[in-house]
Amino acid sequence: MSKQTLTITDNRTGNTIELPIEHDTIPAIGLRQLKVQADDFGMMAYDPGYTNTASCKSRITYVDGDKGILRYRGYPIEQLAEKSTFLEVAHLLLFGELPTASKLTDWNARIMAHTQIDKDLKGVLKTFRGDAHPMGILISAVAAMSTLYPEAKQVHDSEIRLQQVVRVLGQLPTAVAFAYQNLLGRPHTDPDGALGYSENFLHMMGLTGDGEVDPVLARAMDVLFILHADHEQNCSTSALRNIASSDADPYCALAGAVAALYGPLHGGANEAVLRMLAEIGDTKKIPAFLERVKNREVRLMGFGHRVYKNYDPRAQIVKKIAYEVFDVTGSNPLIDIAVALEQAALEDDYFVSRRLYPNVDFYSGIIYQAMGFPVEIFPVLFALGRAPGWLAQWMELMDDAEQRIARPRQIFLGEAERAYLPIGERG
Ligand code: CMC
Repeated sequence: MSKQTLTITDNRTGNTIELPIEHDTIPAIGLRQLKVQADDFGMMAYDPGYTNTASCKSRITYVDGDKGILRYRGYPIEQLAEKSTFLEVAHLLLFGELPTASKLTDWNARIMAHTQIDKDLKGVLKTFRGDAHPMGILISAVAAMSTLYPEAKQVHDSEIRLQQVVRVLGQLPTAVAFAYQNLLGRPHTDPDGALGYSENFLHMMGLTGDGEVDPVLARAMDVLFILHADHEQNCSTSALRNIASSDADPYCALAGAVAALYGPLHGGANEAVLRMLAEIGDTKKIPAFLERVKNREVRLMGFGHRVYKNYDPRAQIVKKIAYEVFDVTGSNPLIDIAVALEQAALEDDYFVSRRLYPNVDFYSGIIYQAMGFPVEIFPVLFALGRAPGWLAQWMELMDDAEQRIARPRQIFLGEAERAYLPIGERG
């Protein structure tokens, strides 16, 4: 076997260093040996947006962006979406294994037994204005949970940790539904622990058609949650890991993750896609819209991905679910615009040469809208789905002896030392 090292020659000095290669990676700290003077700081790697920096070792989610592969704990997303349930996937992400039948029954029961929310949290959720964005409310709700469960600060106690995981998974859908009904001035519907996870959520949201949640819609919601459940070191997960690396409690770390997800380049994209499709309004206007994208006036929302340079496997599944949902709800006219827009983009050299394909957000909003969700709540649905992934990444971080507080370096390009000038002497 060839030698697993990388030799670097510093042409400023002629010095050579040899760094170990492990998992096709070199330890960045090794670069610090490269110095011109003995008392120099040494070299660093510059990587805005962390495009080529591994921040952790993880065993949870595998993405091969060139081949369009996504696996949770080794299981292909296509199989999980077809055969599994969201809470089963949450168990898989959190504990590394698919549960046995009896473990799954216990796990489902444990989560569903924690769906009630504290009256003080209800009080917080009632304080928002009628036009408050649901993501702002969700950030606040998760942060408020930190004040209600102060024992959560004991982040190195695995039993206490698990208790918070159960609370988050159980309570978040209730908090979202409570806030939503409150914004609409409608009475709150209590959670029903006898229902499935997604069925209960749709029930609390009032998306019950003639009285009961349609099983096709409950299953579609569950699959959409599965598709969003984890995606390795994305912006929100990295934000969560950064915050949690200071031993902040999981609610504070999750509030930061939800905040990162809110942005339109990340989880806010599903909302932005819907607004974009509504703005295009007619397939005839697609060529003019794509011209605006190519002129860099706007981005084609729901397209492109930092990691996928091939079709996002989640988008393929979402597109299929759309038609299953439409069989129940009736079609969403925006689907025709979306399909035509996708086709036009995939035939256009601008998108082909940059390897831009639809991502998970391109079709999900069309389904949410058909199911009766308002556009503003779409990123919240992403957050509900992502919760087990964030929690699994947090648990992994807490048990990772190699991790330290996140503290990147910078290249300082500001002023060198200057003497303070009294105000009367400034020009
Ligand atoms: N529309 C038009 N051009 C694009 C788009 C797009 N959606 N995405 C990337 N490009 C172009 C970009 O202008 C650049 O071109 P050039 O090299 O000529 O300057 C090239 O493609 C590379 O783009 P980038 O911005 O360097 O890529 P990135 O990896 O930094 O950004 C992204 C990834 C997802 C933020 C970006 O593709 C984007 O803004 N997409 C639209 C928002 C979106 O759909 N976000 C959801 C992502 S999937 C769900 C999630 O996990 O959040």
